[in-house]
This record gives sequence, structure tokens and C-alpha cells, in this order.
Amino acid sequence: MPAERGIAEAAAVLRAGGLVAFPTETVYGLGANALDSRAAARIFAAKARPTFDPLITHLADAADLPALVGALPPAVAALAERFWPGPLTLLVDRPAVIPPIVTSGLDTMAVRVPDETSARALIRAAGVPVAAPSANRFGQLSPTRAEHVVRGLGAAVDVVLDGGPTRCGIESTIVDARGPHPVVLRLGALPVEDLVAALGPVTVRAGNSGQPVAPGTLAAHYAPRTPLRLLRDAGPPPADGIRRGLLAFRDRPADGYAAVQVLSPAGDLTEAAARLFDALHRLDAAGVTEILAEPAPDEGLGRAINDRLGRAAATWSPAG
Ligand code: TXA
Ligand code: MG
Repeated sequence: MPAERGIAEAAAVLRAGGLVAFPTETVYGLGANALDSRAAARIFAAKARPTFDPLITHLADAADLPALVGALPPAVAALAERFWPGPLTLLVDRPAVIPPIVTSGLDTMAVRVPDETSARALIRAAGVPVAAPSANRFGQLSPTRAEHVVRGLGAAVDVVLDGGPTRCGIESTIVDARGPHPVVLRLGALPVEDLVAALGPVTVRAGNSGQPVAPGTLAAHYAPRTPLRLLRDAGPPPADGIRRGLLAFRDRPADGYAAVQVLSPAGDLTEAAARLFDALHRLDAAGVTEILAEPAPDEGLGRAINDRLGRAAATWSPAG
């Protein structure tokens, strides 16, 4: 249902332990009452998400955070003040009212205030913090439109609020600012450069590791079903009869490809990030054997775009 008109009904579904997919400024989230362990368990089931991968808790207002977790470390408070509502997720100590399933047993809780009026209205109307991962099946492309959610999760969701395409198109940046040295755990819609301007130097530890700090940073993630390869300056493809798709960063000649998506004709990083997942969804539906993707310039939002493309390119072999 349309996001503005469905708020009251969707809030009632959340309070009753149901699942509501809703737009944020980054991607669509799959929400449940974060105080209700059974509701949270339904998120993991609907996404086929391993329970070791913790959820982000969403609040309607930055002022609601101290009420939930008590006094904040200074840098956490400063970042919340500066960037909320917005595409920044912060780690705090998990309060006792949040059941451990939400944080996958971690002592920390990831939390953010989305910069999307209908999302905040929904959370406020529900009257509870809302746990919400991206509303896609685990490991697959994130949804930036309501139809992506319906296609990917279908009947597993009780309500889908449709707010049109999301503004940022790429997930929030995750930062652990509890200690003296802030660490970026996931590159995202808030550029690292903005964090540095606010905080001074930060460490980026968003790479791959066997024991990832933020499991969305698993090497293979955010993946289309079609195999994807990263290629700088992709030339015309060989005339071998194989249907290939091209994900171009900016406008360029693309003869010989069966399907082409341009992230930003003028090469604008904000526009490119906003289109990234929708373009990948379209190429995935185009019936091509392989997708070739050009990386973006490695600065600002380009770093988050390249992070997602790199993970989409890694071979995805779901365990069991
Ligand atoms: O923009 C976003 O962040 C979207 C919208 C819906 O808010 N949400 C999102 O959620 O991207 P999800 O579940 O797809 O990604 C959450 C990431 C995962 O990589 C998870 O491992 C990490 O956050 N995470 C959650 N809690 C954590 C914690 N306590 N410590 C470290 N990483 C955590
Ligand atoms: Mg996700």
C-alpha cells in the first residue's frame, strides 16, 4: 500500500508481531518489533538469513536513543547529533530490553534513525524500536523499490509500504565510534570523507574477513543471480553469440551488449549510487549469461558502489 496512507495499519501489524517492509532513504527494510524475539525470528526466516547476522534497530528520533540505552559515548553522541536522521548506523551497547536474537548474541546493537518521513512516522506510530535488515533474501540484491521486495520476499511479508524508489539507493554506513578510534565497519551512503570532516581520522575495516565484524561484509553478498564480473574499460564484447549485460558507470559506447544499464550518464556518484541496485535488478531480469560491471571512481560514494560490486562479483555459494 502507499506509504503515506498505510502507516496506521502497518504500525498495528508491527505491534502484533508481524513483518512490514518499508522504504528508508537507503534501501527498503524488512521491519519487526525489536522488543519481540518471536517477531525478530520471523525476519530471519523470511530472508533465509543466518542467525549470526545481526539486525539494525531503527528509531523515530535521535532523542529516543538515550532513553533506550542510557548515556552515549561522546563520539557516538556527536555523530548522532550531526548525521541523524540519515544513512549512518552506530554501534551502542545492547540494552536488556532488546532480545539477543536481534543482535545475534552480540553485546553491541547497531542503530539508526532513517531520513525518510514515512519510515519515522511508522516507527513512531508503532511505538517500539523497529529491527530491520534490507528487505531481500540473504545474499541477494538489496531492494530500492517496493516491487523488488514483492518479487524477492512475496508472501513472507505481511505489508509492503510503497514509497517509490529510495533516494540514496545504497545501505547506511556502519561506524563503531564507542572507543577512541572510530572504525567504519561497512562503507555506505554516508561517505567516509563526511565522517572524517566531522570526527578526524577514521579507520576503514570494511574489507573481507573470515570472521566479519559486520556480516554484511561477507566477501560474497549483494549478488544478482547472473554471474557478474568487474572490468575496467570494458570494450565491445566478442561476437561469440553469448548474451552479455553491461553495467556502465557513465555514458559510453556499448555496442554488442544484449542489455545496458548506465548508472549516471554524467558520471555523478550520488545518482550512480541511487541507481545501482535497480540497474542490477534490471540486468538480472534481462536474460543475459554474464554481467560486466565497470567500477566507479574510488572516492566518496564511489567507494561504497565499488564495495557492493566487488561483493556481487565474488562467487556466491550459499552454505547448505
Ligand atoms: O541502510 C541500511 O542500513 C538498511 C536500512 C533498511 O536501514 N539496512 C541494512 O540492514 O542494510 P542489513 O541487515 O542488510 O545490514 C545490516 C548490517 C549487516 O552487515 C550486519 O552484520 C551489521 O549491519 N550489523 C548489525 N548489527 C551489528 C553489530 N552489533 N555489530 C556489527 N555489525 C552489525
Ligand atoms: Mg542487507
